[in-house]
Amino acid sequence: MLKALLEPKSIAVIGASRTPGKIGYVILKNIMNYGYKGKIYPINPNANEILGLKAYPSVLSVPEEVDVAVIAIPAQEVPKAIEECGKKGVKVAVVISSGFSEVGNVELEEKIVKIAREHGVRILGPNIFGYAYTHLNINATFGPLEIEKGNIALISQSGALGIALMGWTIMNEIGLSALFSVGNMADIDVAELSELLADDPNTKVIAIYLEGVKSGRGREFVEKMSKVTMKKPVVVIKAGRTSRGMKAVASHTGSLAGSDALYDAAFKQSGIIRASTVEEMFDIARAFAQQPLPRGENTIIITNGGGVGVLATDAAELSGVKLIEPSQNLINAFKQTMPWFGSPRNPVDLTGQAVVDNYIKALKVAVESPEIDNIVILYCRTAILDPRDLAKAIVEFYEENKVNKATVISFVGGQDTYDAMKYLNRHNLPSYPSPERAVNALSKMIWYKKFVEHKTRK
Ligand code: ACO
Repeated sequence: MLKALLEPKSIAVIGASRTPGKIGYVILKNIMNYGYKGKIYPINPNANEILGLKAYPSVLSVPEEVDVAVIAIPAQEVPKAIEECGKKGVKVAVVISSGFSEVGNVELEEKIVKIAREHGVRILGPNIFGYAYTHLNINATFGPLEIEKGNIALISQSGALGIALMGWTIMNEIGLSALFSVGNMADIDVAELSELLADDPNTKVIAIYLEGVKSGRGREFVEKMSKVTMKKPVVVIKAGRTSRGMKAVASHTGSLAGSDALYDAAFKQSGIIRASTVEEMFDIARAFAQQPLPRGENTIIITNGGGVGVLATDAAELSGVKLIEPSQNLINAFKQTMPWFGSPRNPVDLTGQAVVDNYIKALKVAVESPEIDNIVILYCRTAILDPRDLAKAIVEFYEENKVNKATVISFVGGQDTYDAMKYLNRHNLPSYPSPERAVNALSKMIWYKKFVEHKTRK
């Protein structure tokens, strides 16, 4: 049933508007302009045609089947619309409208759920900005149009923040497979959507902005998410960590904020990776989306700068990333890749004199060595090595050699360094402006890999 969200043959917009700027207008326009190839049916009793499409007075008057209905009409009219969706055989109603439990209108919310259950319709929302599934070119939101395509699924319990994050992912070229606003979670909740995404071949990792689970559903959340994490990594940013934050959560989505320690324990038990900031959530998600899972924990750092090497070493020690002590053979091999005053240990320091050739030779050694599972590549801007040249050479090397060792990168420097990292990111090499962020992302991948292995052995 829920699967209809990821494979609808047709979408109706109930409350599609003729008025530019209205939510029902923007949603219809986004669905059309993002390139959805299925059938689109605007529903509006006051219009014959909207944005060049024939409009229908009710979903019941659509001559063909309707899989998903996006509802953007005033709250009081939603029950009737849901009933009609039920009669029509609509599988999921995506209820954008506000004015339900979030403003104390619990009865109206219970009413739409009751009607939906009677008719076998599932409800996403209410009080949401919509959903997107980029692989079918579905953007049924009133957020920005051009969502970047990729393998990260994002679920947001906050509407406004979710829309803001859409813009953020576009600006940072973070590719999404799906995007769900869950709002009041009257019916479909975060865990159920995660289950859906766990089986979605276009999603590699699930990122969630969570304020809380609904009262009485904590155990169910842990049970469901424990299964999800065995299939896909899940990264959560849980808001409401402090007592003031919890009060803010209670008045925002009315979720059970619960003690932060409780959530922390539940996440650990379920294999959920917890991020403390939105930035960290996407740092980690990007690493999972772009890289293979670590084969083991043995990690090497390759750098042209001692300072960033030390920062990365500290970050690795603090986050439990195991830096190998290279064997004499490996030390000898690394020695061949650097000037005599470099360091062939870990971090492998190619020195500030390093050029592309030094990096590629060192990477070749690292990739071929059975002692090494994971690679951290660091670069500090020097006048003798243009970061864009290095980025191109690294991409070429990884693509030609089909490298399958988990790799994270940090380039530190100015605008050209930033451009180089964009290039790396576009080629599936997760790159970060600080060594700590790169190592942190890798540490979470290693933790996840160990968690899954441990659970599988049990
Ligand atoms: N069936 C079909 N169409 C209808 C119906 C109906 N029962 N009733 C009205 N319509 C038509 C209207 O004629 C109108 O089209 P028109 O502009 O061509 O005349 C259109 O549907 C919209 O109806 P309006 O009555 O004009 O409603 P309006 O657009 O003002 O508001 C909305 C509807 C957007 C759903 C509003 O009630 C609402 O809930 N807004 C908040 C939405 C929101 O913020 N959701 C949370 C997002 S998350 C966040 O925080 C960002």
